[in-house]
Order: sequence, then structure tokens, then C-alpha cells
Amino acid sequence: MTIADVLNANPRLQRRLFFLARRFVAGETLADAVDAVRELNGHGLSASLDFLGEDVSSTEEAATNTAVYCDMIERIVAERLDSNVSVKLSAIGQMIDEELAVRNLQRIVDSARACDMFIRLDMEGSATVDSTYRIMDRARATYPHIGAVIQAYLHRAGPDARRLLENGVRMRLVKGAYKEPPAVALQHMSDIRRNFMTIAEKLLASPVYCGMATHDEFLIDAIRAFVERNGIGADRFEFQMLYGIRREAQRALVREGYRMRVYVPFGTHWAGYFYRRLAERRENVMFVLRNLWRR
Ligand code: FDA
Repeated sequence: MTIADVLNANPRLQRRLFFLARRFVAGETLADAVDAVRELNGHGLSASLDFLGEDVSSTEEAATNTAVYCDMIERIVAERLDSNVSVKLSAIGQMIDEELAVRNLQRIVDSARACDMFIRLDMEGSATVDSTYRIMDRARATYPHIGAVIQAYLHRAGPDARRLLENGVRMRLVKGAYKEPPAVALQHMSDIRRNFMTIAEKLLASPVYCGMATHDEFLIDAIRAFVERNGIGADRFEFQMLYGIRREAQRALVREGYRMRVYVPFGTHWAGYFYRRLAERRENVMFVLRNLWRR
């Protein structure tokens, strides 16, 4: 039985958990997400909208998710929001057939082309990395405003980042959120941080505009120190954080003159995303436990 089965069998628990998940998820509809982005923009923060619908197993669901992405792009433009979109390829058919994901990404690219909107391809489990790069390379052949994510915990992260830099691909650098075995990924936080900074320094020193996506004070301080030491302007890169996490720190960095982009997920399939955020930090679990039984 999956978590989704448990929730479907228990609508009251589902409602209660959704109430708590709203700290990390903008809402279930595009209108909710637009409101959240408008508020962030009002505080000088940019956004990247993510529609929660990963790992679809039918062509119809993949088509529906693709259509939502096209709507998101239209709404961002119509509402004059400072936002781009982040796409999970598994939400548009990558696990069914790579060619299907290529075709669906092409539809999203066609919508983005009219307004030159940047499209970020999120990175999922390590088994999808090569496929994600293949799909990205094909889409970039006609539309260069597509970027990737480098997960610093992967042993391959350094060489991948070097190859992408050579091709002028914009990257978002993250630690990595999936459970990976030691043969594939670093397991200790100190090693992951070290690899994150090694790659971050290469990205920051390059002419390619990149995103430093972390809530980790240690890494944020190290990035700040590096850019100050090397005279790298605050307009040459951006910090990125997740919606609802370290909200004060997000605004404080903007007040200091740095750019900050907030990743804003929305949609009815919020459970998987919510549980990943819980798994990451004990404070997040405590927040849920404290509130779960509160009336
Ligand atoms: P982490 O959660 O490991 O925290 C490290 C330290 O930060 C803590 O020990 C503490 O010192 C400090 N800290 C964190 N939160 C705090 C708080 N609330 N208060 C005080 N201190 C706090 N992953 C992936 O695999 N593929 C992807 O495409 C993406 N995309 C993505 C986009 C964006 C914008 C972000 C920010 C992250 C992702 N991720 C991701 C997730 C990423 O891989 C990672 O799992 C999370 O960001 C958690 O790692 P952190 O580096 O943020 O800090």
C-alpha cells in the first residue's frame, strides 16, 4: 500500500496534511501559485513555478501535465510575473518513453519561445540523468534557453558540470534530494558540501549565469566569501531556495543586494514533494508533528 492509497482512504487525514503541506506548496491550482509568485515578486524575489505531477505512467497524464506547463507560461506572461518554469521530465512522460518526453518538452518550448522564457529541467533519481541530458541536448538544438540541475552528491557531478559549462548551459547547483547508493553518490554531508563548493567556485568564476540552490548557511557564507574575494558581481548569479523554507533568510539576502529565486511547487500531487521535504530536515517533521493534532 502506498502513501497515496492511505491518504485516499482517509480524506480527513489528507485535508489535515494538505493544510500543513501548504507551508511548502503554494496550493493546488495555478491561481494559488500565481498569488504566491505575486507576493514573492512584491518582496523583490523571483520565482520558478513547478507543477507537481512527477512519475506519470500514462500518455494521457503526460499530455495533461504538458498542457498545464503551457498554461503556466501563458499566465506568467499575462500577469507579468517575474518567474520561469521548472519541469520534471518524468511528469511529461520520460519514464514511459524518452521520445514522448522529447515531443512534450517541444510543446513547452514552443510556448516559451514567444516570450524567450527560460526553462529549467529538474534532475530526479540518478537513473534518469543521462536520459535528461539527451532530452535537454535535443531541445537546446533549437532553443538555448534551457538549463539543467547538477546534484553535488553524485560522483559524476564535477565532470557533468564541466561539460555543461563548455556548452554554455545554465545550471542550478543543489546537494541532491534522492536516496542514492554509495557507488553513485557521496553519503556524508561534509563530502557533499566540499563537492558543492568545488563546483560552485567553477560556476561562479565562469561567464555562465548559474543558480546556487541551498538553504545551508555554511554554503551560503562560503559563496558570499568567494564572490566578494573574487569581485564577482551580485548580478552574475542567483541564490535559490524552496517555497516556505527559510523565508526570512530569502528576504535578508535580497536586502543585502543578492538575487533570490524561489522554487514554487503547486498541484494536487503534493504528497511526494511534501514527504521529501520532511525527510530532509528534523525541524520540518517537528513542525508537522506539532501542528498535526493542534485544533
Ligand atoms: P540542508 O537541508 O541539507 O540543510 C543544511 C544546513 O542548512 C542545516 O544543517 C542548517 O545549518 C541549515 N538550514 C537549513 N534549513 C534551515 C532552517 N530552516 N533554519 C536554519 N538553518 C537551516 N534536488 C534534486 O535532487 N533535484 C532538483 O532538481 C532540485 N531542485 C531544487 C531547487 C531548489 C531551488 C532548491 C533550493 C533545492 C532543490 N533540490 C533539488 C533539493 C536539494 O537537492 C536539497 O535536497 C535541499 O535543498 C536540501 O539541502 P540544502 O543544501 O538546502 O540544506
